[in-house]
Amino acid sequence: MRPEVPNKKRRTMTFTVEPMHPPYAARITGIDLRQPISASQLVELKAVLAKHVVCAIGQDEPPTNEQHIAFSGLLGPLERGKSPKIAGTAERVPHPEIIDQSNMDEAGEIYDDQDRRLAYKRANRLWHTDMSFYDIRATYSALAGHIVPPSGADTEFTDMRAVWDALPASRKAGLEDLVVEHSYWHSRVLGGGPEPNAEERATRPPAHHKLVHMHAPSGRKALYLASHACGIVGWDKSKATALIEELMAFATQPQFIYAHKWRRGDVLIWDNLATMHRATPFDDRTFKRDMRRTTCRERAIAQGGSSIA
Ligand code: OGA
Ligand code: MN
Repeated sequence: MRPEVPNKKRRTMTFTVEPMHPPYAARITGIDLRQPISASQLVELKAVLAKHVVCAIGQDEPPTNEQHIAFSGLLGPLERGKSPKIAGTAERVPHPEIIDQSNMDEAGEIYDDQDRRLAYKRANRLWHTDMSFYDIRATYSALAGHIVPPSGADTEFTDMRAVWDALPASRKAGLEDLVVEHSYWHSRVLGGGPEPNAEERATRPPAHHKLVHMHAPSGRKALYLASHACGIVGWDKSKATALIEELMAFATQPQFIYAHKWRRGDVLIWDNLATMHRATPFDDRTFKRDMRRTTCRERAIAQGGSSIA
């Protein structure tokens, strides 16, 4: 068998794969997500996702909300939660499967400074993986670029399998026994949001997940961490915080990072069980950025059993 050349374009039966940050992150050409994808394209797409874990698929125009929901539903049971209701606001994208990640209000205007939704969305600028604060975790997220600002606003990724591989054996020792607590409220506060009251806190109890897990699609071990990680079961707070901060810093070193530069019409699909990601700043008081996300879960969840981020 010939060794694989990591940064070369390759043809599958149905599309072309171009590595963007070898050996992970790839751009796929030859699929248009505004059309139904074929059974063989789906099989090949899943295989590319298993290996590359972050994939961009470009279209001349972004898929409609309906097209977006249709193709991402092929990758797993879709999240159908509603965003938490913020008093006095209405939904801009009226589909429960789609999370509106824009800086725009229901009239399509840039949020004003006081809008609490803007502050909440800025928590996306912390390194995270989507929905680690639920027992039933997110697998794939699919983010579609409808309006892309002229500069900034890359989405950055790190490959948590490569991170695990790169940890020295002495540092790996014992980590596989640890269980991490993840809380939605932890990252809201870390991102500069207000402390929740007891009632708010009760609406989103924390979840527990192993710090190191097997990423089944690739058969590689990965660290599973996020800005939502707030403790380690059985450890005191300061010791847990120190380890989480150390591992987050290790995981987000430049050699692991792929920065996605958006083109309008791109759909970026990532595997939350093998990566962390973050939004990066842009002039969100001047330019519109319209991004819409669907999310697959490990298993289907009961209607009304969840919500965003
Ligand atoms: C997300 C997210 C980052 C971005 O949609 O889950 O974190 O760049 N987005 O918008
Ligand atoms: Mn996210």
